[in-house]
Amino acid sequence: MLSTAILKEIMEVAGEENVITSQAGLYTYGFDASIHHHSPDVVVRGRNTAQISALVKLANQRNIPIVARGSGTALSGQAIPIHGGIILDLSGMTAVREVRVEDLYCVVEPGVIYSRLNNQLARKGFFFPPSPGSADVCTIGGMVACNASGMRAIKYGATRDYVLAMEVVLPDGKVMHVGTNTIKNSSGYQLEKLMVGSEGTLGIITEITLRLLPLPEKRAIAVASFDDIEQAGQGISNVIASGLLPSGLEIMDSVCIRAVNRSMQMGLPECDAIILAEVDGPEEIVRRDIEKVADICRESGARDVDFTTDEKEMLKLWKGRKGVLPSLSRYGRDSVSVSLADDMSVPISKLPLAIKQFQEIAEKHGIVIGTYGHAGDGNLHTKVLINPLEEGAWGRAEAAVDGIYRAVLALGGTVSGEHGIGISKAPWMQIERRDSLEVMEAIKRAVDPQNIMNPGKIMQWKGSIIQYLRYP
Ligand code: LAC
Ligand code: ZN
Repeated sequence: MLSTAILKEIMEVAGEENVITSQAGLYTYGFDASIHHHSPDVVVRGRNTAQISALVKLANQRNIPIVARGSGTALSGQAIPIHGGIILDLSGMTAVREVRVEDLYCVVEPGVIYSRLNNQLARKGFFFPPSPGSADVCTIGGMVACNASGMRAIKYGATRDYVLAMEVVLPDGKVMHVGTNTIKNSSGYQLEKLMVGSEGTLGIITEITLRLLPLPEKRAIAVASFDDIEQAGQGISNVIASGLLPSGLEIMDSVCIRAVNRSMQMGLPECDAIILAEVDGPEEIVRRDIEKVADICRESGARDVDFTTDEKEMLKLWKGRKGVLPSLSRYGRDSVSVSLADDMSVPISKLPLAIKQFQEIAEKHGIVIGTYGHAGDGNLHTKVLINPLEEGAWGRAEAAVDGIYRAVLALGGTVSGEHGIGISKAPWMQIERRDSLEVMEAIKRAVDPQNIMNPGKIMQWKGSIIQYLRYP
């Protein structure tokens, strides 16, 4: 709890109109898209760098935790203020300050929504490619903080690959500029890259320069259905090994297919798994490549392959794909999707084996998991479906998650391909990164000696992840 005097000081530096202290407001801001919840003591709406700098300076003087937040789509608890303090809501900082296609960059405030930026860029024939599942709601600041990516990472990479420069309010309130608005930069430590994926633990990102790419001329999508998910995984590996580089190569298992068909009336083929493959580029190459993808899927055992270049049809397919996560949340009365074992990545050729092992682990612990994701770059989403109110369900889920992550690490993978660590993946990230944890901790201490920036996350999280739950 913050004293009335401190709340008054916060109102003075941040503007009274930007401060929320109502119980309902604080409760609401205690969620993100993860399984966790904890209310902040106060919410401040960020307006500009000067205001944020003054607020952070005060927080540092008074030793108050401060957690930045965009749209709250974080899936691992990154935006949960587990030690209370201040939630700094940056979703109101929505200006696109500059779009300079001739210099291949744009400058944005952290609250800009991914899809809105891309709609604006598309009018000039350009785009910022990472394409997260939450494209229509997530903010650029959140994407940068978590190094988010998504459907097009296989060809175009992650957010990290597009961050050229940044303005950051450091934990003592000083404003730092890192990187440059140039395509190349070998000028000292790449601190802008260090900020990417730091999940609000090193400072508050108040402005971002992103690199742009020209939009491809054409796209095509193939849908291949398989009677066996391991075969689909092998199909993915075969496409990659053929030398093709699709702009999207997704997999969905039967649980996910059923979920989107049921909640979105998608009419996807009901089978053990489908592959959704997108290629892009000049028209004649797109036609050649999509046929090649279709052939490889058939040779890999697909029972049926269809493809389309119809814009409306493609939009519908991507909508269905983006709808997997929300559809799983509505899977059934007694099983909802909880964000556990969320977004591991393995070397692409290990995918069929990983899928097989995940299914065995789920069976062993008596839980259902839906598997889907960006299989083309080895990044899978395994959503654990449980009844969160059932006695013993969380224990079984945690045991399964432990098995899944250990399998991922044994396959040479990572516990997080694109969502980040927060709380829900911290114990296994600490195993994965055991020989660099000390350096991470030293950096954190050097930049944030008072530990006010999103404390308790990533390497600072200790113990079980089944804590601070949003469920009763
Ligand atoms: C997706 C999110 C969950 O790919 O990353 O749908
Ligand atoms: Zn994803």
